Amino acid sequence: MPAEDLMERVTNLCKRRGFVFPSAEIHGGFRSTYDYGPLGVLMLRNVKEAWWRSMVQLREEVVGLDAAILSSPRIWEASGHLANFTDPLVDCRSCHERWRADQIGDTCPNCGSTDLTEARAFNLLFKTYAGPVEDEGAVAYLRPETAQGMFVNFANVLQTTRKRPPFGIAQMGKSFRNEITPGNFVFRTREFEQMELEYFVPPDQSQQWYEYWCAERMTWFTDLGMAKDRLRLRPHDADELSHYSTGTSDIEFAFPWGWGELEGIANRTDFDLLAHAAASGERLDYFDPATGERYVPHVIEPAVGATRAMMAFLIAAYDTDEVDGEARTVLRLHPRLAPYSVAVLPLSRKDTLSPVAHRVLSLLQPLFMCDYDDTQSIGRRYRRQDEVGTPYCVTVDFDSLDDDAVTIRDRDTTEQARVPIIDLIAELGSRLSH
Ligand code: GAP
Repeated sequence: MPAEDLMERVTNLCKRRGFVFPSAEIHGGFRSTYDYGPLGVLMLRNVKEAWWRSMVQLREEVVGLDAAILSSPRIWEASGHLANFTDPLVDCRSCHERWRADQIGDTCPNCGSTDLTEARAFNLLFKTYAGPVEDEGAVAYLRPETAQGMFVNFANVLQTTRKRPPFGIAQMGKSFRNEITPGNFVFRTREFEQMELEYFVPPDQSQQWYEYWCAERMTWFTDLGMAKDRLRLRPHDADELSHYSTGTSDIEFAFPWGWGELEGIANRTDFDLLAHAAASGERLDYFDPATGERYVPHVIEPAVGATRAMMAFLIAAYDTDEVDGEARTVLRLHPRLAPYSVAVLPLSRKDTLSPVAHRVLSLLQPLFMCDYDDTQSIGRRYRRQDEVGTPYCVTVDFDSLDDDAVTIRDRDTTEQARVPIIDLIAELGSRLSH
């Protein structure tokens, strides 16, 4: 399928089926902001849950954090964001559009004019005021990354958890950047969600942990069903590196418009801990009782956008095929990511089937995210579930009244199997855990 078609189909599906809506649509929209609808909110939660599970739940050396979004200017002064978190901005003198100089070459993409201003540094931080007085003393910033929350809480976490390097602090949540050119649907937005790990290691182990995390994060995507040939690991050239990093690799995804960054894995060295220690006067280091040595750990940071990752999973999962001579659209999402795990579908709307179908629904709801649909023909309902990636449909038919069994239909193979209701939880549980 041509790349533009794929992108258009995915964005249409997102709108039509309630994954992602343009924000403030009834008021004309608002500057590339988006709202996550009934299915989008489920999928985004699943992406975050899959990340948390792999980064926190399954690791003994990583703990979580949820730091404030509204933050002190001192954090951003110390981190270097107030001085350095800028993009080069140019204006077109002809049509007055603004562009990121590094993205457009010498010509205005809007009107073709070559009469552009000199590039000037534009800071991406969102500035606001905390409290009723709008003066310099009340300035606050919306965080542009979750990472600094981990650095400023380094000593708190060390003291309360008694972790020792190598150990990590993980956080996911909203970040805000006043991007000059948001675009490509939710790929680049001004408000987005990040999932970041700051992994503190002895300085002489930083390269080995950097390599470990590059490999580990690639595996996370492929374990969740992303094809290996849609991903690549690209080390940054020296001139691309952020002000804090000695080494960064991007995990890139083959988006319909070309390779694009999905996740960055950076060796941030001791830059952040030293910077916050110097600015605050607090000691941000680790005393190793075994060796009697005191040192400032180095930091390896895998950082990924939850919203960008969700979009990549949707694009990777989008497929079309034919079932019984009829074209269908199917999202081949990993069961862990699909908005609904199971859809309960009574074959007919007749009153006789509804009590059994609702009994099945109540049985499954505590364990699985379920949809219930008794509208339209069963064929159409299967198509609707395929289109949003539901791995299994459970159909209650008139035989169910006699045999107390239901039919499980598999999204990918469309194969059906009869299962006694009493075995349903075990059967679905085993299929969904694969
Ligand atoms: N703490 C390091 C950091 O924030 P980054 O490369 O600027 O690094 C990490 O951001 C990830 O966050 C990116 O790889 C991308 O997935 C996501 N991201 C960054 N800016 C974004 C934006 N404007 N919209 C959506 N996602 C974004």
